[in-house]
Amino acid sequence: MSVRRLAPDHVQPASFAFDPANENWADQQIAKYPEGRQASAVIPLLWKAQEQHDGWVPRAAIEAVARKLGMAPMRVMEIATFYTMFNLQPVGEHFIQLCGTTPCALRGAEAIRKVCEDVIGPQSTVSADGKLSWLEVECLGACCNAPMVQINFDYYEDLTPENFTALLDDLRHGRPVKTGSQIGRSGSEPLGGGETLKDPALYDGTVIGAGDWQKRVAEQRKAAAEAAAAKAAAEAEAKKAEATPAAVAEKPASETAAAGRPKPSGTAQPSGAANDTPAAGGKPSPEAVKESAKPADNKPAEPVAAKAPEATGAPAGPESKPELLTAARDGKGDDLGLIWGVGLKLAKMLNEMGVWHFDQIASWKAEELAWVDARLTGFKGRATRDDWVSQAKKLATGWRPDSAVGDKPVK
Ligand code: FES
Repeated sequence: MSVRRLAPDHVQPASFAFDPANENWADQQIAKYPEGRQASAVIPLLWKAQEQHDGWVPRAAIEAVARKLGMAPMRVMEIATFYTMFNLQPVGEHFIQLCGTTPCALRGAEAIRKVCEDVIGPQSTVSADGKLSWLEVECLGACCNAPMVQINFDYYEDLTPENFTALLDDLRHGRPVKTGSQIGRSGSEPLGGGETLKDPALYDGTVIGAGDWQKRVAEQRKAAAEAAAAKAAAEAEAKKAEATPAAVAEKPASETAAAGRPKPSGTAQPSGAANDTPAAGGKPSPEAVKESAKPADNKPAEPVAAKAPEATGAPAGPESKPELLTAARDGKGDDLGLIWGVGLKLAKMLNEMGVWHFDQIASWKAEELAWVDARLTGFKGRATRDDWVSQAKKLATGWRPDSAVGDKPVK
């Protein structure tokens, strides 16, 4: 390895500045980083400075990069002297980096080094014509084709003193040169060509059963297509049979009638019971189930929709509007949910009606109870059935049930 020092003062330029194009490029690089992290662009900027300054980084360029990035010059100096990608000394037009690491050394790098010394001179010096300079570096990652050198941006491999000498001569005189292996090797395969992995079967998938797999998939697709076709044919046949007059005649009357009209949507429901619940015509809503979940006999609740209007217990007698409030007294109503049979929905309905307190309900006469019962949309008759008046009388005394849903009335 070479010593990483700045070039002597007599070769250092007095100043350095990016040309307009590179200045613009540098600004774009800096803009890639968040505010306050502009120093992250130091390596790209040093690289661009080296590119602009004939392949090496003078002190003035280090200082210019430091100024541009707001860094201490020493911090940029540390980076420039650490990475061998930055040349600190002038280099030739063709800058040769000779790999001297073990594999290359074992394969003749020393002889290549001797050529460099003989043809160019000591490392880190530029030939008198300015065309060539060289430097020994660590492994460049092309060990398979050792020994090798990197010249500017290209690799030259499988070097011998003879072909390397000729290569340098061609470069010096501007003649075309061949990059890569100098002995015709393809990639990094063995000398004389590849010796393994030559079986074509390795590359058509048969080794891993890809052929069988493809055949299996093809068979599965064919079977699926045949099954789909058979199903479609059977369905078409069934439709055809259904459409015949004989088939229609064989069907039960109820079935044939139902087929031609909409499904009943609550004909068996009490008036409004299901209609007033979100689940009308289908599954009763959780709320509707809760409201109907307190039958007097404590049996499993029947869906509201299953009850006939008469079965709800809605009184048919005279009605009288009870005393109603516009709002709860003192801004706070009683917990009407403590009345067995009153859930959230019924409590809300009562509040909207003007009923907020137990003593209101407790005071209802039969006509007033009938008036309220007739207006419990979806729950008509519930107040009578669950004897809200008796429950409310008890609750109005301050008594409270153990359950948050109240005590089932005893009849
Ligand atoms: S040792 Fe020379 S390229 Fe790796």
